[in-house]
Amino acid sequence: MEPHSTQKKSRSCKDCHQDPKVIGLGFGKITFNQGKVDFEPLEAPFEGVNIRLSQIVDLHGNSKVKFNRANMRGFDKGEIERILRVGFCLSCHQGNDRIFKNWRNRQNCPKVPF
Ligand code: HEC
Ligand code: HEC
Repeated sequence: MEPHSTQKKSRSCKDCHQDPKVIGLGFGKITFNQGKVDFEPLEAPFEGVNIRLSQIVDLHGNSKVKFNRANMRGFDKGEIERILRVGFCLSCHQGNDRIFKNWRNRQNCPKVPF
């Protein structure tokens, strides 16, 4: 067991860019459809409220929890969209691909419409 969150090896691109739990959406499945991102939670919500145990924000960046430190927050909508868009590219492009070296947010892929 490794009790500390620090270690020599860094997390992979996909660890952050493709994992809804890491992004704060909670356990579930991310899908892309015609350039639109969607999220399907795989946990049942708590009774009577639309929030799940592993969730801190929704896809719109609305915070679902209270944080215990000043200025601490979940990702906002723009951040979530940018992170997940990179995650989509990572399904085909390796993390060291040249497309990530000179990243422009709206560069389009000649192979997929997104
Ligand atoms: C520890 C988590 C983490 C890891 C590991 C990580 N990223 Fe990111 N990445 C982020 C966050 C957070 C942002 C900022 C999102 C924002 O605020 O726009 C980001 C932003 C980016 C952006 C800019 C997106 C944009 O549209 O502005 C690119 C490109 C990117 N990452 C590529 C990569 C690649 C390639 C790797 C692996 C070599 C990687 N990331 C590894 C968390 C991570
Ligand atoms: C379904 C697989 C797939 C996905 C997903 C994908 N690409 Fe691509 N992309 C390719 C292939 C295949 C090529 C052509 C081979 C190459 O240049 O690596 C390519 C080429 C490119 C090129 C031209 C490369 C160059 O250097 O001229 C860019 C830019 C690019 N993709 C951007 C993106 C971005 C940005 C995303 C995410 C929004 C993305 N791609 C998602 C498969 C994909």
